[in-house]
Amino acid sequence: MNRFDGVKVLVTGAGSGIGRATALRLVSEGAAVFAVDLSREGLAETASASASGPGRIVGRVADVADEGAVIATVDAAVAELGGIDVLVNVAGMHRTTPIGRLTVADMKRLFAVNTIGTALFCREALPHLPDGSGVIVNVASSAASHGNPYMTAYAASKGAVLGFSLSLAAEVAHRGIRVVPVSPGSVATPLAGPQVLPPDLDTSYYGRIRAPFGTAEPEQIAGVIAFAASRDAAYLTGAELRADGGSHI
Ligand SMILES: NC(=O)c1ccc[n+]([C@@H]2O[C@H](COP(=O)([O-])OP(=O)(O)OC[C@H]3O[C@@H](n4cnc5c(N)ncnc54)[C@H](O)[C@@H]3O)[C@@H](O)[C@H]2O)c1
Repeated sequence: MNRFDGVKVLVTGAGSGIGRATALRLVSEGAAVFAVDLSREGLAETASASASGPGRIVGRVADVADEGAVIATVDAAVAELGGIDVLVNVAGMHRTTPIGRLTVADMKRLFAVNTIGTALFCREALPHLPDGSGVIVNVASSAASHGNPYMTAYAASKGAVLGFSLSLAAEVAHRGIRVVPVSPGSVATPLAGPQVLPPDLDTSYYGRIRAPFGTAEPEQIAGVIAFAASRDAAYLTGAELRADGGSHI
């Protein structure tokens, strides 16, 4: 018996990293996954990697920051899957910028993708989620609650995801719908690669962070997301799951 047999899941950011690993994990456990991403190539790679799973996957290109695209995407997912049981918001972007170089354009895009994109998918999916078993998992970040230099705007956008998720959990609890923010620490994906750190910054701070369990593979975060989305977590809502390999103990 797979945990996600017959479960219909919409996953954003499924064209790379944590979102791809999550889509693959859910398909391997029987889910029907509607995978969303900006990258057509990324979605195609995810779909071909999932070919042997017992579940199935359908991809759609969309910008999560585009309200019209989000509305159309949720409609398409409902039509394709016959409903949505679980929403997993993973799509996100990162900018590493010292405070003196922060631009309004950078801040607006970070919030548009990370925060507003997440909020729009929640708003649009909620009318379709079943009372008593619907689940939303929103990927925040350990940066939402722990300071990191040059990450002010990113951290603010993720802190907003965390706060949004906790309040949403309170708002929809009467329907028996769970909302779980998952906050990864450092994960080996393109988003966290060295290219996101401008070369002239003092990065010695990062060298001092000790993660006893090292950097995560995306599959390790996918495992936490799958748990949060499953019936194994039926009593879990409105609580952050921080999966950071012990970086802050
Ligand atoms: N990698 C880390 O260390 C880390 C740590 C904490 C939190 N996170 C969060 O995890 C999530 C996934 O990141 P990842 O590390 O897998 O990175 P990634 O770059 O591998 O994947 C992000 C995916 O989101 C997609 N995306 C970006 N903007 C989009 C948009 N506007 N519309 C649709 N899709 C969009 C990208 O195309 C990409 O496929 C992000 O929300 C990120 O902030 C990552």
